[in-house]
Amino acid sequence: MAELQKDPVTRAQFIVMGTVGTLVGAVLTIPPVAFMLSPTIKTNFLGQSDVPDDWHELGSVFEVPSGTPKLYRVEFPQNQTYNGEDPLLGKGTIMNAVLVSWMDGEIPSALENASQGGLSASQIEELTSQLNVMSNHCAHLGCPVRWFPDRDEFLCPCHGGIYDINGGLIGGPPPQGLYYYAFEIREDGGIYVKHEFTNGEPWVV
Ligand code: FES
Repeated sequence: MAELQKDPVTRAQFIVMGTVGTLVGAVLTIPPVAFMLSPTIKTNFLGQSDVPDDWHELGSVFEVPSGTPKLYRVEFPQNQTYNGEDPLLGKGTIMNAVLVSWMDGEIPSALENASQGGLSASQIEELTSQLNVMSNHCAHLGCPVRWFPDRDEFLCPCHGGIYDINGGLIGGPPPQGLYYYAFEIREDGGIYVKHEFTNGEPWVV
């Protein structure tokens, strides 16, 4: 009688191969995902950023419309470092898209009565409390969200995340609302941002 052929791979070998395959998969997957989520991960979860802590001008409060967000782009300088050592790849820039809207889309009374010549401290305080300065990266996996005026909502094209004009989460897989930039409003109405975010809570000075 013919002898049954032995399994060429033992159970122990099979388990070792599976473990090695998992490790290789993790090594190939984690760095790109971490890169995609940066700078959110670096700023909010690791508490560090390799972007200098400077203010950058976005635009003016006088040009933010009612009922719809305004999109700005800001280029932050970035120091490419490795473990805090000397720059590995030198210096570069990182382009961010920033969404700016008034709370609930309504222009505050402080702006209607303001002159472009100079805002008072109390006007700046009120405008600051009414302005949303948000990242366009979805809080789920970082895809860029877009404003749909016919729905009055931000929609994420990747998995259907939905946010309101204040960045609040309406539905879908994101665990929270959009991230908010640290910002300040100056006397001439200029809006300035830092490459620093609050974790789903509006920025408060
Ligand atoms: S990345 Fe936006 S819903 Fe998944």
